[in-house]
Parts: sequence; C-alpha cells; structure tokens
Amino acid sequence: MEIKSLKIGRLTTDNNLFLAPLAGFTDRAFRQVCIELGAGVTFTEMVSAKGLKYNNQATRDLLKISTLEKIPAVQLFGSDPEIMRSACESYDLEKFDIVDINMGCPVPKVFNNGEGSALLNNLDLAEKIVSECVKSGKIITVKMRSGVEKGQNTAIELAKRVEDAGASLITVHGRCRDDYYSGEVDYNLIKTIKQNAKIPVIANGGVFTKKDADNLIEKTGADGIMLARGALFNPLLFSKILNINSEIDKKTVVFRHIDLLLQEIDEEFAVRYLRKQLAYYVAGLKNSKQAKLRIFSATKISEVKEILNELDFG
Ligand SMILES: Cc1cc2nc3c(=O)[nH]c(=O)nc-3n(C[C@H](O)[C@H](O)[C@H](O)COP(=O)(O)O)c2cc1C
Repeated sequence: MEIKSLKIGRLTTDNNLFLAPLAGFTDRAFRQVCIELGAGVTFTEMVSAKGLKYNNQATRDLLKISTLEKIPAVQLFGSDPEIMRSACESYDLEKFDIVDINMGCPVPKVFNNGEGSALLNNLDLAEKIVSECVKSGKIITVKMRSGVEKGQNTAIELAKRVEDAGASLITVHGRCRDDYYSGEVDYNLIKTIKQNAKIPVIANGGVFTKKDADNLIEKTGADGIMLARGALFNPLLFSKILNINSEIDKKTVVFRHIDLLLQEIDEEFAVRYLRKQLAYYVAGLKNSKQAKLRIFSATKISEVKEILNELDFG
C-alpha cells in the first residue's frame, strides 16, 4: 500500500495505517507499543457516553493517553445525541482531538440498546448524533459495518449521511453485524463508499499480513487501513506494512508491552489482565497451547517472562 499522510479535518496524520479500537485491548500501554512501531493514529476502546455522564470510574480509566499520541483519538458509543454531544464537550475528553463514533459494535447488550451497529438501522438518529457531536468542535469520525444483515449494505447511505452531517473520516469494517468477526470482507461495498466520499475512507477487516494490506487497498481504493486483530497477534505488523526497517523482534515487543503495563498497574492485576493479550501473542507458536495454560496459572510476572523466554518467537 502507498503510505501517505491524511487530512482529517484540520489535522494531518503521519501516515494512513491506524490501530482500531479494541475493547479490552487498546489501552494506553498497547497503543504506545503500536505507536512505537509506526501506527499513525490509535483509538481507545469504545467508551460509553452514558458511563461518562454518570461518572463511572471504570469508564474514565479508559481515557488515559500517552505523550506519544500526536492525535489522541477516543471512540465513543451511545444513542442519545445530547448525551453524546455533552460527552464530547466534557472535561473527560478535553485532551482528545478526534472522537470516533461507534456504529459497528455487534454485541447484544449494545445493539439491543440502539447503540453501536443498531445505528445502521436508524440512519436519522445516526445523522443526528454526528451533527450534534460536530457542534462540540471536536473532529468527528465514524466507524461502521456494512449493515446489520448480509446484503443490506446500509453503510452506503449511512456514509453519505454522516459526511453531510460533518464527519471528517469514515472507517468501514466490511462485514455486517451478523458476521461478527468472521466471513468475507465486502471489498465492493468499501469501494463504493470510497468513490462517493469527499472525506477520507479507511478500510478495515481481515488484515493479518502486509499482503492483506496491499490487497485491501487495491480492491477498495481506500485512503488507508485500520489494523485490529492483526495487531493483537503481532504489533510488528505496523512496521512491516510501513516498511520501517526495525531490528526489534517480537519477543522484545511483548516484553516492552509487559513493562509498560507494569508502570500503570500492580503485578497481581497485570498477570491476570495480560492473559488474553498473551494468548494472542503466543498463538501459532510451537508449544503455544502448553505455554498458554502455564501463563493462565502464573501468579508472578517473572514466571510469565520465564514461560515466554522458553518460546521460539521466530
Ligand atoms: C476483541 C475485540 C474488541 C473490539 N472492540 C471494538 C471496539 O471497542 N470498537 C470498535 O469499533 N470495534 C471493535 N472491534 C472491531 C475491530 O475494531 C475491527 O473492526 C474488527 O476486528 C475487524 O478487523 P480485523 O478483521 O482486522 O480484526 C473489536 C474487535 C475485537 C476482536
């Protein structure tokens, strides 16, 4: 893919390879790891606008940023335009330049509340949310799926509506809500949205290698790519796609991530918190099953590191 900077409203990015919002994963430490390997813009995991309104501390904890974030970006979910706008205007989001609105989350708890991917079936409300949030002065972007059901392709109309409402960038995850995270990515849908749009369009879905990235850009004509699970398996995917000649190996990246996390949370919590991320890191390696089981019963970081040291990261 061609690496280039993008204009998102008044902002200019370093490049067009972004890290997706990933609930339970894209905390400050992981985002920093990805930025160090070249990520252009990184997003917090989705944060509840209502949670902020009701002063939920767990919600607030998701908003920490690192000094490396040149364009801090938060993802917000909700369905009430007023609450979404006041979240954008709140002190909590003061340090963020970009507020991305989640119009893709498939989980029933969110969908049944009329939030996330449910907005794909409520275009008037989706448009209203964006036009209200734009009034806050934040750069508003939208991340959407193709539709709720297969073949529905509501995203084409939604993309036009949110652009007209003032959104500065659209990310399209080329799968529908019913697909969750498997199934083919609909390249044609992303291509159509890109052809209709005046604002940048970022393609997302199924990029696990540099070749996947080239293919996604070639098939869609999108302005950039957002990495999700590919980055969870190996954040070095950023430097590979960006052609950054790095001497760093995967084990060093994994240890760097652990050390960054330990600067924020105590060891006992970190050992448990890291399990799901380490499961991604070791997936596919020789003896990874046994290593995963041992990691899941470890109680100290030194034990975790010892187990990781026994693995061949290639
Ligand atoms: C564990 C997990 C958590 C996710 N959390 C979010 C989220 O908070 N906000 C969001 O817009 N998408 C979320 N997604 C969707 C991803 O951002 C991305 O759109 C999706 O994984 C497709 O990209 P991929 O095929 O490259 O993984 C999540 C996906 C996964 C697997």
